[in-house]
Amino acid sequence: METPVILKTNYKGNIKEYFAIPAGKLHTDLGVINLDELHAKSFGDTIRSHLGAEFVIQKPKAPDFFKYAKRTGAPMMPKDIGIIISNTGLCSSDHVLDAGTGSGILAIYLGGIAKKVVTYEIREEFMEVARRNIALAGLTNIELRHGDIAVEIQGLDEKFDLITLDTMDASKVIPHVPRVIYPGGYLATYSPFFEQAKEIRGAIDKTGFTEVTTIEIIEREISFTDRGTRPSTSRVGHTGFITIARY
Ligand SMILES: C[S@@+](CC[C@H](N)C(=O)[O-])C[C@H]1O[C@@H](n2cnc3c(N)ncnc32)[C@H](O)[C@@H]1O
Repeated sequence: METPVILKTNYKGNIKEYFAIPAGKLHTDLGVINLDELHAKSFGDTIRSHLGAEFVIQKPKAPDFFKYAKRTGAPMMPKDIGIIISNTGLCSSDHVLDAGTGSGILAIYLGGIAKKVVTYEIREEFMEVARRNIALAGLTNIELRHGDIAVEIQGLDEKFDLITLDTMDASKVIPHVPRVIYPGGYLATYSPFFEQAKEIRGAIDKTGFTEVTTIEIIEREISFTDRGTRPSTSRVGHTGFITIARY
């Protein structure tokens, strides 16, 4: 697998960027870039299109995979991923259990920090996309497994510091979490609807967690224009509710 790159240029005051795999030709508004030339270059070097536009070569980070990786469905947004990471204190010795993998975006963020991430996806056809995204991210500590987490969790003989559930049936998985979570470990669930969040809270209440909280993260970008400075009028609305519980 080739390492992907971000190619970035400033064109008349606007930043233009492309996510590319170093092979073949990339056709851009600013000319054709011969991507084979990337093999002789390093991050921070520049590459020119046939029209002379100069692009800086950057190493992609997790937010670039959120923006550019192929998707099988809606990935979790960075604002929601961030709150899971900060509220669970995810660190480099942690083992994480994640489901469903989806496009693998949450798994990629988690894998960049944790020691190991095991991620389950029920739909085999989605696994190929996730597998490629994870490989492009260069992460070898993410193990992608096929299966229904509600069933698979019952046969696991591993333990985890953090369990992330981004599936509609998360409440069915929760009763089995105590068997596979380290004492003091965290469960983090993502639910787009109030009804689902309520089901999750019900399951958590019956399972003996402590420090339970359900939150929604509202992100406001500030726009700076000649007319003035204010919260942007176009913004991300509701995404989901995050429930975090400690065992
Ligand atoms: C919203 S997506 C997850 C997105 C992912 N967190 C990301 O950031 O890319 C939900 C995924 O869970 C999978 N899924 C649903 N129920 C599942 C289950 N019981 N076990 C495993 N995967 C499941 C779906 O097929 C879908 O790909």
